[in-house]
Amino acid sequence: MKWSTILAFGLVFIVLIGIAAWGYRFFVAPESIESVSAKWVESGHADAASHAFTNWDENEPPLVPSTCAKCHSLYGYLDFLGADGTQAGQIDKEARVGSVIACNACHNPQAHQVTQVTFPSGIEVTENSRAANCMQCHQGRAAVSSVDKAIAGLDADTVSTELSFINVHYAIAAATLLGNDAQGGYQYAGKSYVGRFAHVEDYATCSDCHDPHNTTLNPDTCSPCHSNVVERADLHDIRQSAMDYDGDGEIREPIASEIGMLHDTLYVAIKDYAANIVGQPIIYDKGTHPYFFNDTNANGIVDSDEANGSNRYAMWTPRLLQATYNYQFVAQDPGAYTHNARYVLQLLYDSLENLDRAVPVDNLAHFVRP
Ligand code: HEC
Ligand code: HEC
Ligand code: HEC
Ligand code: HEC
Ligand code: HEC
Repeated sequence: MKWSTILAFGLVFIVLIGIAAWGYRFFVAPESIESVSAKWVESGHADAASHAFTNWDENEPPLVPSTCAKCHSLYGYLDFLGADGTQAGQIDKEARVGSVIACNACHNPQAHQVTQVTFPSGIEVTENSRAANCMQCHQGRAAVSSVDKAIAGLDADTVSTELSFINVHYAIAAATLLGNDAQGGYQYAGKSYVGRFAHVEDYATCSDCHDPHNTTLNPDTCSPCHSNVVERADLHDIRQSAMDYDGDGEIREPIASEIGMLHDTLYVAIKDYAANIVGQPIIYDKGTHPYFFNDTNANGIVDSDEANGSNRYAMWTPRLLQATYNYQFVAQDPGAYTHNARYVLQLLYDSLENLDRAVPVDNLAHFVRP
């Protein structure tokens, strides 16, 4: 046999092995239950000691209220899906404590058929992938409509004792990802907002990027397109867009830094507005409910005696409520830079522009709205 023939057969053989291995990986080899279970045990969904599952243990009787049960209890989610024989789409009763987001929360006949997800705005979104279940719980609890309802008919800069801080809630990734398609941020009247972040076909929905079982991200799946990603920590450095949103002359800095700059500027503007227009200084503590407090000594930082419920901020005007809603929205989605960078940049920009009508925001002229 000629060398060239041997070489040709050799090459064909290698290509066939390659195709077989690829096919096995994608079409044949299901992940073993053992491997899936080992991953799930590491996830927050399985963490029985987490605040997200123990918050109601001391209730008398120990039940998760129906307004919270959908996302904080296995029994509540099964109730919501109608997998416990009750009507789907609603919570029929308070749920027992002591559960986590177990396998059968996401794997039961009803869960596998979810394609419609109703967001707090009332908007129903179609999601044909298994990630529809993720969107049921990671959607937040408030929307532009919640804020608009609270401030209807009130003067923008007049304090109203009827107002209190509106918290969008936590881990709100689906609200960010969907943008205007779900309207979870405070969207100012007369402005238009981007909808769902399409990204690229194979990395468009929750379980494309997050392993559904340990919920982690594998940086190796991002690096073919985002070449600066080598390790997990590098995700934060991703940059694709070429617009200098924060006007610092840097278009290579991480998109997360552009968002960070507008977010930090919004905090400064919120403090400025509270001190000078309302006349009652405000501070924010990300880790302490209800997040906005009186800055009693007006030093601009959170002192240990300030971040507690009895010192909660109470001097709300509609303009302050709108801006703080968006400040918290961005603070509570650490993945916002990936989930929908343009949407959160629009929310931040518009909050700054709106505050600027009452107190001048120095940097605003440099910022660019996407
Ligand atoms: C039934 C409600 C529910 C569903 C469905 C759900 N989650 Fe969660 N998720 C939670 C709760 C509650 C937490 C907080 C857990 C904790 O604090 O320990 C959480 C936490 C997380 C976190 C934070 C990191 C961690 O592991 O704690 C990520 C990421 C996450 N979920 C992604 C997902 C993805 C992806 C899906 C869909 C495959 C999904 N979730 C489906 C309720 C849900
Ligand atoms: C639409 C789903 C959903 C509903 C409804 C919901 N939550 Fe949550 N909640 C979540 C998710 C998701 C998290 C996880 C955040 C994290 O720790 O990553 C969370 C976290 C929490 C935490 C932990 C916060 C922290 O910082 O440790 C508390 C407390 C909480 N929720 C209280 C409530 C209460 C009280 C209700 C009912 C009035 C409620 N939630 C309703 C989805 C929901
Ligand atoms: C938060 C939701 C969630 C939880 C909890 C969960 N899974 Fe999954 N699981 C998924 C999603 C979503 C997929 C589909 C992944 C895909 O299509 O890429 C999946 C896929 C699977 C698969 C592959 C076969 C299939 O149906 O596609 C197995 C096996 C599996 N899960 C078993 C388990 C077991 C066992 C547990 C508990 C230890 C568990 N899962 C917990 C969401 C979940
Ligand atoms: C394009 C990939 C991608 C998609 C799609 C995606 N995420 Fe993320 N997600 C990320 C990245 C990147 C982070 C931030 C990780 C970091 O910087 O630590 C993140 C962060 C999160 C967090 C915060 C985790 C924490 O540690 O507090 C949650 C919760 C989350 N995502 C849930 C979801 C859900 C639910 C969906 C679908 C609605 C979704 N993600 C869609 C990539 C993605
Ligand atoms: C097949 C190529 C491809 C893969 C794989 C990919 N991305 Fe992307 N990514 C893109 C493209 C193209 C854009 C620009 C999309 C746009 O602006 O509409 C983008 C945009 C982004 C952005 C916004 C950057 C900016 O400057 O606005 C982030 C963050 C991001 N991707 C994160 C991820 C993460 C995390 C993963 C892995 C889980 C990932 N991407 C996987 C191609 C990819």
